[in-house]
Amino acid sequence: MPLSAGAAATIKENAGKFEGDAGIKFTVKMYDNAFSKYPAIKDEFVQANHVKDSNNVTPQGKLLAEALVAFAKNCDNEAALGDTVDRIAKRHKVQQVKDASFPVLGECLLQTMKEELGADAALCDAWREGYNYLAELIMAATKKQ
Ligand code: HEM
Repeated sequence: MPLSAGAAATIKENAGKFEGDAGIKFTVKMYDNAFSKYPAIKDEFVQANHVKDSNNVTPQGKLLAEALVAFAKNCDNEAALGDTVDRIAKRHKVQQVKDASFPVLGECLLQTMKEELGADAALCDAWREGYNYLAELIMAATKKQ
């Protein structure tokens, strides 16, 4: 099901929040939160992709920030999301990411949006819907790989 027009508009307006250093700081913090709150989930990830450099940047943090910007800018255009979704699905297939893990990461995404980006209720509501939509696209594309 596509995103509601209201959620899509709010996500698009705030796409810039995930750009540049601030976006990477956000995604790196999100993984930190996820791994400390749900240690079991850590085993699903390739830890080498989560090693911080001297600027606190991780390879995976960078890739997730890029994916979130791409999603935010095109969240009302499923066709335009194809390349981003397929790339993630290919990786997820290789890593055997479980559908059951998506809600946990979604919760950590919203928690970190409040902590790091000062997201208000409207932005959190929009992203709750947006995350579920993106998760559905990724899970469906992963099954087709
Ligand atoms: C909507 C939710 C999600 C998004 C947007 C997302 C995004 C991404 C992106 C952008 C990549 C890198 C792809 C590349 O190499 O180009 C990736 C890789 C990966 N994702 Fe996801 N992902 C999501 C959910 C999850 C969940 C729920 C898990 C498991 C708990 C997961 C586990 C992984 C793993 C293991 C990799 C391989 C790299 C690494 O070890 O970090 N992802 N994901």
